[in-house]
Amino acid sequence: METTWPFVYNFPMSYEGKAKIMKDGPKEGTLVMLFKDDVTAGNGKKKAVIKGKGKINKAITLKLLKLLHDNGVPTHLIEDIDDRSILVKRLKIFPLEVVVRNIATGSIVRRLGLEKGMVFKRPLFELFFKNDDLHDPMICQEHAFMMDLIYPDDLLIVRNLSMRANEILKQYFDSIGFDLVDIKFEFGVDENEEIYLADEISPDTMRLWEKGTMTSFDKDVFREDKGDLLTTYTEVAKRMGLKIEGI
Ligand code: ADP
Ligand code: CDP
Repeated sequence: METTWPFVYNFPMSYEGKAKIMKDGPKEGTLVMLFKDDVTAGNGKKKAVIKGKGKINKAITLKLLKLLHDNGVPTHLIEDIDDRSILVKRLKIFPLEVVVRNIATGSIVRRLGLEKGMVFKRPLFELFFKNDDLHDPMICQEHAFMMDLIYPDDLLIVRNLSMRANEILKQYFDSIGFDLVDIKFEFGVDENEEIYLADEISPDTMRLWEKGTMTSFDKDVFREDKGDLLTTYTEVAKRMGLKIEGI
């Protein structure tokens, strides 16, 4: 199934994405988010199944969503379910991928010819149109308003929450020996039009470098064939103090 924006606004009963399965939860307005072992890169072109990855990303996401909640960022997390799943608020997701960057790498380096590793004076806030068919193109806010992807007032809130979440996570990862290089966030609204941070927060959706180096502890290990993904993610989980059974 496609993840183009009309779909995101009309979430079906159950949806299997590239990395997760979303199903109706026990109460109205809830969803079970189940983390799969699948890993994809390049908009699904490169694929693998890494046994145990789902459990690790679930545990990392749970801890980071709690950390953000405890520091005043509203998130979709309701509660833990089991080793692979969490219960979340069912939201209407803005068809936007927000990327906050602290250090240059990835698409910004390719697009603007910046030097990989350049540390930005202040975090950069970027918007991408969440649309698989178009390969999630980068857009500016005027494009987002023109396509009615989000209201201007809501984008201001999303921007503030993204910057705050980035600061909290940057500090946290610094304390366990990683530089938070960049991170992707998604947001949505509930039935009261309140905005919440959604989706997962894991090494699939952010870049972590060993502090002061450019050694990857994230999905770049898979994207660029730089080593064993499970070992990499296990190290992140270990430094976060997580104990994951069977890993
Ligand atoms: P993709 O859809 O890109 O293949 P996933 O496998 O990660 O990605 O699927 C998860 C889907 O669930 C994403 O489209 C994401 O926007 C959506 N989602 C995440 N959190 C929520 C939520 N709280 N409510 C509704 N949809 C959500
Ligand atoms: O991955 P790529 O170099 O193409 O894109 P990027 O714009 O440099 O990605 C910035 C950050 O967003 C990285 O941490 C990616 O892992 C994350 N991202 C994501 O989680 N999902 C996407 N669809 C695109 C980027």
